[in-house]
Amino acid sequence: MTLAAHLAPALAWAAVVRWWLALGVMAVVWLFTARRLHALFSDPPRPRWVVRLIDEPMFLHWAAGLVALPLLLLGLGALTALSISGCAPGAPARAPSVPVAALSGYGGGLMIAAFGLYVRRRRVRAREIAVPMRRLHGDLDGYRIAHLSDLHIGSYDDRARGLEWAQETNALGPDLIVVTGDLVTSGTAYHADVAKVIAALCARDGVFVVLGNHDQWDDQALARAIEASGARVLRNEWLQIERGEGAFVLAGVDDGYTGKGDLDRTLAGRPDGLPTVLLAHYPSVFRRAAQRGVELTLSGHTHGGQFGVPFLADRVNLATAVGQRPRGLFRDGDSALYVSAGLGTTGPPLRIGVAPEIAMISLRPAGFSLDRGAAIRSNIPRSG
Ligand SMILES: [Fe+2]
Repeated sequence: MTLAAHLAPALAWAAVVRWWLALGVMAVVWLFTARRLHALFSDPPRPRWVVRLIDEPMFLHWAAGLVALPLLLLGLGALTALSISGCAPGAPARAPSVPVAALSGYGGGLMIAAFGLYVRRRRVRAREIAVPMRRLHGDLDGYRIAHLSDLHIGSYDDRARGLEWAQETNALGPDLIVVTGDLVTSGTAYHADVAKVIAALCARDGVFVVLGNHDQWDDQALARAIEASGARVLRNEWLQIERGEGAFVLAGVDDGYTGKGDLDRTLAGRPDGLPTVLLAHYPSVFRRAAQRGVELTLSGHTHGGQFGVPFLADRVNLATAVGQRPRGLFRDGDSALYVSAGLGTTGPPLRIGVAPEIAMISLRPAGFSLDRGAAIRSNIPRSG
């Protein structure tokens, strides 16, 4: 992939310098990028200036190179069509200029990647989703759960950004806040930052967390840090949330990647007659949860695909390419699944066509028409 990302830039350079010089420069850049990318995907702590001045521009170049490939093909197609249609009858057809198409493709790729890195990634979209729920008591009609996921607190989305997300969430006035995993990307260096962000979340009935596959470097230490901040980490367990005469079961299944998740244990012993809301990092749990009578499953993990085709990203993105449900509300009989697009990123710190989101799930009685999610607002561009 890293090699492919350098094809269009190499061809583009050939438009302005000799081809052997373009190839040589790109080979050096490719070697440097490949080495750094390999190290950066694990997100080791490093100074902010290194992130801003070296890492982010490198990801910008890398993503622009990848985006440039389809643009290059489109450009070549357009140039071919133009050269054919522009020829006088009998005149020899001119071959389209590959370097010019590559230069255009790389330029377009840079614009798309810059938007994904500096704008799209920083504009959180808050959505309100009404979910009709069987067996919901009237006292819980309109109960609002703020659903956050995949914060990936680290060098790209640091504590300051996490605190902004917390402020945004609190401003929506939820009854309950849940976080469905991937609080960090790797390692243990950001546990204290995660704890500060979680501590800043505020809801009348509390904050509940399940861990994701990226939280497993030292999951015990992370869970302790989160619980010290006042939230509760649900690890194959449930509790009852009450409002007036009504109540529902809130359950959380542990990480499936490491085999710690045990759905049967998580749901065992639930009181009869109460609806269940299940927190599970992986949306793939949904089918089994539905079979066990769970009314609503809240998941993350996919990041909405993180990279999608602009304007078609809900359907054409990295998650759908590997057969996953990318984001949004899904139903199976009386059971519903909401998959959050998440807030942070993994790998390259970009989101193309997929906004970070805070979902506000509103519980409604059965028979209420299902609302797949209206944007209630976009916040102002994030700082730094
Ligand atoms: Fe994630």
